Amino acid sequence: MPPPSLRPTTVPPTYVDANRLWVDSRPRAAVQRRFEAPVLLRLGGPVAGGQALELGTGRRGTGLRLAVELFGAARVEGVELHPASVAACATAVRDLGDRVGVQAGDATALTAADASYDAVFGYHVLHHAPAWRDVVREAARVLRPGGRLYSCEMTARIVDSRPLRAVSRHPTDGDRPTPAGLAAVCSAAGLTVTGQETRFAGCWTALVATKP
Ligand SMILES: C[S@@+](CC[C@H](N)C(=O)[O-])C[C@H]1O[C@@H](n2cnc3c(N)ncnc32)[C@H](O)[C@@H]1O
Repeated sequence: MPPPSLRPTTVPPTYVDANRLWVDSRPRAAVQRRFEAPVLLRLGGPVAGGQALELGTGRRGTGLRLAVELFGAARVEGVELHPASVAACATAVRDLGDRVGVQAGDATALTAADASYDAVFGYHVLHHAPAWRDVVREAARVLRPGGRLYSCEMTARIVDSRPLRAVSRHPTDGDRPTPAGLAAVCSAAGLTVTGQETRFAGCWTALVATKP
């Protein structure tokens, strides 16, 4: 049995599990590639030749692929809570060879040493993590001075809306990132918010925060 921090959180059942249909789907990957990552790149710039970490890779590994192909990272490591997703993701990015690695881990308690990475990416991991503030603190801890956190999130406004809650499983209620809340938590973790763009009536936010 894995340690408590690596046991997937129990979430309340819904009639339809939209996460299962959407998160690792091709349309989701297309949105990430064509819309979300370009916004993050515009806000934060490339990570040319750098060492990167992605939190909550999912099964498809699109964020890992984009860190290499779009942001120019020399190497990217992925940390994912669910062992089945780790295995699927490792298979999905096998063609990238030793530029990419994926391992089981908890983004709220990373095993990496302080100041290990030039960039940390998180695509929609925070609204899945009950202790999302700890994820931000851990990202700040493992960034080198000058390193950047690239975060893209569906905010509390949509995740906790009635229609989404009817079809989508998310752990715990009532404490999810808002655009301002995410920026504030980054600042409290010692990061400087250097870019943020919020769209879709406050339902989606992209943020880049730099470690001084
Ligand atoms: C909404 S999915 C996003 C997947 C992918 N990044 C994307 O944008 O399509 C959130 C992912 O974060 C993972 N996750 C949730 N909490 C985590 C944690 N504490 N540590 C690592 N991964 C976590 C989930 O298992 C899931 O694969």
